[in-house]
Amino acid sequence: MKILITGGAGFIGSAVIRHIIEHTDDSVLNVDKLTYAGNLASLASIEHNPRYQFSQTDICDRAALDRLFSEFQPDAVMHLAAESHVDRSISGSAAFIETNIIGTYQLLEASRYYWNSLESQQKQAFRFHHISTDEVYGDLEDTDALFTESTPYAPSSPYSASKASSDHLVRAWYRTYGLPVVMSNCSNNYGPYHFPEKLIPLIILKALAGEKLPVYGNGQQIRDWLFVEDHARALYTVLTQAKVGESYNIGGHNEQKNIDVVNAICALLEELAPHKPAGVAHYADLISYVTDRPGHDLRYAIDASKIQRDLGWVPVESFESGLRKTVQWYLNHQDWVKQVQSGEYQHWIKQHYQSASV
Ligand code: NAD
Ligand code: TYD
Repeated sequence: MKILITGGAGFIGSAVIRHIIEHTDDSVLNVDKLTYAGNLASLASIEHNPRYQFSQTDICDRAALDRLFSEFQPDAVMHLAAESHVDRSISGSAAFIETNIIGTYQLLEASRYYWNSLESQQKQAFRFHHISTDEVYGDLEDTDALFTESTPYAPSSPYSASKASSDHLVRAWYRTYGLPVVMSNCSNNYGPYHFPEKLIPLIILKALAGEKLPVYGNGQQIRDWLFVEDHARALYTVLTQAKVGESYNIGGHNEQKNIDVVNAICALLEELAPHKPAGVAHYADLISYVTDRPGHDLRYAIDASKIQRDLGWVPVESFESGLRKTVQWYLNHQDWVKQVQSGEYQHWIKQHYQSASV
């Protein structure tokens, strides 16, 4: 297959591309604007492979998309490009509306135009895989409930509302135009190459620097964590095996309170990085409760039984082993870390966490 992947320089997109190049015979065209979150260094291990190509393109640019479709002639699209950070969506939502909604619309239209031009066999085999989040379902308070594929949408943040909008557009393009789509909604990912604005890498790097570890509110919020390589494998499974029009929830059956995740990282660092920064007796002493995120979702939890039943996918990484691998990866990849800690990253950390009183 020839697969056009949007957002392939991001955290999950780069894991998907590494998975496809390393484990299949497929070819990939990575279409990425390279925002602050896009980093080609995450693809260094496969960048010289003849089955990999890159184009620095904004998915809002329809003319550029048309050219790429016509030149590359993809058999499938995997759409991961997005603005993805909830806190950034609260302090500035415009880019989220632009990329996540308008960008998805432009990509759907470019795909539809291209798909209509295909011969019938190719047309039938074509797939548009939309990659989305469990955050479209809002949050859960009932301790028994889990998000299923039929949970009503109730997004809370500008990020999740923009992703919910994109999901609706994709469903409409399937129902109205017959574009052969498959969809997936996943829980929180973690693992190597995660941009350090998100909880797990942020805590690892702040702890190593001897800085305060910002825990929003009371730290009792729950996320359902999935190792990114398990997600990459699930996405390829959905792309290649799901029936047209189906959607799948993907999750690790691994609910953790934020404060427990932060404490687990501190405990791992005690073992793996025992030489602490000056003045730090225990990494956990750096934990600092800060102003809560507005509209903070209390709990996300995925029922991933449909993908297990229909497609045979289950996660293989436990949270204990995945978190250990992740902490070790950040300790071993200081060059990657230094590179992503660019001026723009420093600016965000200063602006956001000063106002959260860390
Ligand atoms: P990320 O922020 O790490 O990467 C996003 C990528 O998209 C970057 O490489 C960026 O340069 C690119 N991009 C942004 N705007 C673009 C534009 N206009 N045109 C082209 N490229 C653009 O995000 P991620 O964590 O890898 O998430 C990937 C996808 O998975 C997103 O759609 C996200 O909503 C979804 N998702 C993420 C998680 C998670 O835990 N991170 C969980 C479920 C679903
Ligand atoms: P995050 O990694 O931003 O993912 P999401 O908001 O998409 O779930 O945050 C995960 C959880 O950690 C979320 O409940 C917010 C919380 N959090 C903190 O307590 N402190 C922080 O500095 C960050 C970035 C997140």
